[in-house]
Amino acid sequence: MQCKVNVVRDLRAVLSLGGSVVASPEINLEFISGFASLVKRLRRKGHRLAVVVGGGKVARDYIGAARRLGAEESFCDELGILATRMNARLIIAALGGEAYRRVPESVEEVKEWEKVVVMGGTVPGHTTDAVAAMLATKLKAELLVNATNVDGIYSADPKKNPDAKKYDRIAVEELLKLVDREHKAGISAILDAKAVRIIEENRIRTLVVKGELSRIEAALLGGEHFGTEVVV
Ligand SMILES: Nc1ncnc2c1ncn2[C@@H]1O[C@H](COP(=O)(O)OP(=O)(O)OP(=O)(O)O)[C@@H](O)[C@H]1O
Ligand SMILES: [Mg+2]
Repeated sequence: MQCKVNVVRDLRAVLSLGGSVVASPEINLEFISGFASLVKRLRRKGHRLAVVVGGGKVARDYIGAARRLGAEESFCDELGILATRMNARLIIAALGGEAYRRVPESVEEVKEWEKVVVMGGTVPGHTTDAVAAMLATKLKAELLVNATNVDGIYSADPKKNPDAKKYDRIAVEELLKLVDREHKAGISAILDAKAVRIIEENRIRTLVVKGELSRIEAALLGGEHFGTEVVV
């Protein structure tokens, strides 16, 4: 009997790393240093990764405060973007020489995989998940992994609907029906409509997993990740 073994070689992947995983409510030092060790290990095997980090609680605190002070939506979004870039720098600090020191402010600035690119948001109007989908397109990545604070995509927000059902796989067209059309600074959503449209248009293989090191590694390397595959 033949045993099926998935051996992934020379992977080129973009990871959308939730701010909720990196720093919510407190900075998760244990996760960040474990993540840096994982990335170093993967790179030694020839795999290449680019990381887009979200804003987490810091972003939402500042967005909420600015909104209450009367700031317009795009101004609030810009504050959130600053928070994502702080989180990106924490990952860069942990990665040392493996990462580019500079946080790119646009996807256009990113040219190659030589070192690990770590970035946050770019401009108002979409989430860092959409930035990750744009970066995956730009770099012609073969995989996009979204690591977040739930274990996959559900039929509705599982925090608000205890009866929501988890999908092992979901067609990208179905996913588009699930996500909110309108962007709002600091929204808490599994993916935003812009990210899903980019995934659909560019047929980016996408997995949504819980932001735990073992699941992120499994998602990247073809193992059992217990998350959701977006079928494109
Ligand atoms: N259909 C859905 N399936 C799964 N989660 C959903 C769904 N709809 C909404 N959510 C919510 O999306 C949340 C995950 O997104 P959230 O934006 O809060 O975290 P993140 O993207 O990991 O971090 P950050 O946005 O801070 O970078 C979940 O905690 C869940 O409450
Ligand atoms: Mg988010």
